[in-house]
Amino acid sequence: MLFEHVGDIVSVYREYGDNMYDEEISQTTHAVQCARRAQEDGASTSLVLAALLHDVGHLLEIRARASTQVVADMDLRHQDSGANALSVLFGEQVTEPIRWHVEAKRFLSATDVEYARSLSSGSAASLVLQGGPMSTEECVEFLARTQSPDAIRLRRWDDLGKDVDDIPATIDDFEQLLLILMNDL
Ligand SMILES: [Fe+2]
Repeated sequence: MLFEHVGDIVSVYREYGDNMYDEEISQTTHAVQCARRAQEDGASTSLVLAALLHDVGHLLEIRARASTQVVADMDLRHQDSGANALSVLFGEQVTEPIRWHVEAKRFLSATDVEYARSLSSGSAASLVLQGGPMSTEECVEFLARTQSPDAIRLRRWDDLGKDVDDIPATIDDFEQLLLILMNDL
């Protein structure tokens, strides 16, 4: 599917954003937390949008299955379905960090021991399905890509956006942030 209007994105989050992202927080809260971590880090508007929307592919998976859970035992490449669905409304500065954020996790898992140790249990489990830590050759190939620095930044915010002590975000928080960011593009 393709999002043709901002309202289409909001509708998907309104309907499916209360599903759990990880062990303890909802998809909507995870999205808003990631975007806030990006803002705090001084990211461009495009990259904050990428952080906010990077897991929309998971919601599309849930919708397609009419199920309340992200599929835990299969990798359906949510990074591609999400980036593709957003490609009508957004340029590559938004879609490509999303498309590469899982590869960034595989890269960081191979090159940063502390990062690998810090992954949540859900994220560590999905890493196996996503191909595990990159080989040396894959790391070299990944680093040569122009999208990689942004994808790595996005990935680090992704891992920070799981704070159970933060106030949960509502769909209104999500919508407001999305509209402000789109206005700034
Ligand atoms: Fe995420």
